[in-house]
Amino acid sequence: MEEDIIICNCNEIYKSTIVNAIKEKGLTTVEEVGDATEAGTVCGGCQDDIQEILDEINK
Ligand code: FES
Repeated sequence: MEEDIIICNCNEIYKSTIVNAIKEKGLTTVEEVGDATEAGTVCGGCQDDIQEILDEINK
């Protein structure tokens, strides 16, 4: 199993949480991930990483 890492330090959101939200809710944008998980909603510094996860899952 892939190692679970914190993607969003501001809100302590783990990669697994983001991945699950994207898969369960069919999210396609960083904004939608923010609404669903709060990741990326504070400093915005993790938004590139969130985009990468989106690309990975929705390719
Ligand atoms: S690290 Fe995600 S909003 Fe700051």
